[in-house]
Amino acid sequence: MDNSQGLTREGDVNSGRLREQWLTGLNAESIKALQEDEAVFMRQSMSTPCLQSLVRADGCYIYDQDGKRYLDFHGNSLHQVGYRNPDVLSAVTEQLGTLPFIPRRYTADIAVRAAKALIEATTSKDFKVLFTPSGTAAVGLALKIARKVTGKHKVISLWEAFHGASLDCISVGGEYVFTKELGPLLPGCIKAIPYNAYRNLLHSSCPERVADFCLDYLEYIFQNEGDIGAVLLEPIRATDIHVPPRSYFQRLKQMCEHYQALLIFDEIPTALGRSGEFYVHQNFGVEPDLLVLGKGLGGGVVPQAAVLIKKCYDQCSDVSLGHYTHEKPAAGCAAICAAVGYIKEHQLLENCRHQSVFAKQAAAILSERYVCIGDVRICGLLISFELVKDRTTKEKDSVLAEKILYYCLEKGLSFKLAAGNCITWHPPLIVTEEQLSSAFQIFEEAIKDCAYERVG
Ligand SMILES: Cc1ncc(COP(=O)(O)O)c(C=O)c1O
Repeated sequence: MDNSQGLTREGDVNSGRLREQWLTGLNAESIKALQEDEAVFMRQSMSTPCLQSLVRADGCYIYDQDGKRYLDFHGNSLHQVGYRNPDVLSAVTEQLGTLPFIPRRYTADIAVRAAKALIEATTSKDFKVLFTPSGTAAVGLALKIARKVTGKHKVISLWEAFHGASLDCISVGGEYVFTKELGPLLPGCIKAIPYNAYRNLLHSSCPERVADFCLDYLEYIFQNEGDIGAVLLEPIRATDIHVPPRSYFQRLKQMCEHYQALLIFDEIPTALGRSGEFYVHQNFGVEPDLLVLGKGLGGGVVPQAAVLIKKCYDQCSDVSLGHYTHEKPAAGCAAICAAVGYIKEHQLLENCRHQSVFAKQAAAILSERYVCIGDVRICGLLISFELVKDRTTKEKDSVLAEKILYYCLEKGLSFKLAAGNCITWHPPLIVTEEQLSSAFQIFEEAIKDCAYERVG
């Protein structure tokens, strides 16, 4: 199936009848703003043409130019500390007023403090850091480090994965919508079957059994392909939130050690507390060799990403790996220090865990009431509801998911659709019980309105 215009893992598409209907509800000013956007920006699936034009963002909310407010549980997964976080804004402003840029060959206290803040939050504290301007660049950098350190260029990643949209990143990505008609990709990129796909193929509800099947296949690749230098994956896939068991990660780590491949975790959308732990892998007791971070690192203000590298792999002094203009980015580093500090000082991990309990309870009630909810997966404030036509066959209900999306947008709740039929929420970690409760209320109204015939 050519899914480049249809369902994608990564997000909802910007075409179709419901999108057209949404546009008819906008006023003339908004339509004009969208037309102006389309006149200057190239169209892309999942982007331009856009939904609406925004004028303001604050805390958990975004505001469109009609004055409408949306509780934003999408936020491109970068708003852990909320929009316009006061600490981030004042740290960045102060940095811009003193040392806005650090030219290459120099360092500055703010850069060292930012790197230390990220290292201090790891379990072993046995890492070094490189900053990059985007998550995509950070994944590319991690792949290069793995090649240089192991002397092996082959990498195993997972089908359905997304690690960025540059040529190296789409080579290790697993979705056709990102590679379609773009020609030859990097050699040596081998794809394995992800945990969620095996779970569906096996129709198994035993996580350990599914994990074993995934890893047996991975081992088969290691043995037959040979020369694998790295394994790259998101420990928890941000889009439709599948959470493999601890045993998956433990055996994966052992396998990488055995075959002398580096384990790279892409935690770009999920780190900084979203899973209930500061880093996602801390839920599983396994540390990667290379950890890729981004999105919320810039405090929802500055584009900022980083790679954390186990100290023993600091072996690349004879090549220039990153060479970015913003290699030690002053504003980004100020944002990192402020965001990490804010998470600690305001006990956002605790709030995340607390709200997660509330979300699990509310989701359990909804699942009992509505048979269209086939599965709910929640880890911290990574929340996904899978909508199905039939709970036994698990047949996807993507049409319903899209209807619910537009209903909720209408009512002021924004989130992402993933894999066609998954309603995925990434609330900021500052979210309150009241805000979550209002999201659940809107979601329930949407189910009633759009799927009344399937109410159990
Ligand atoms: C898992 C994952 N990896 C990498 C990226 C790329 O990050 P960036 O958009 O900052 O380049 C993203 C962005 O959505 C992502 O979700």
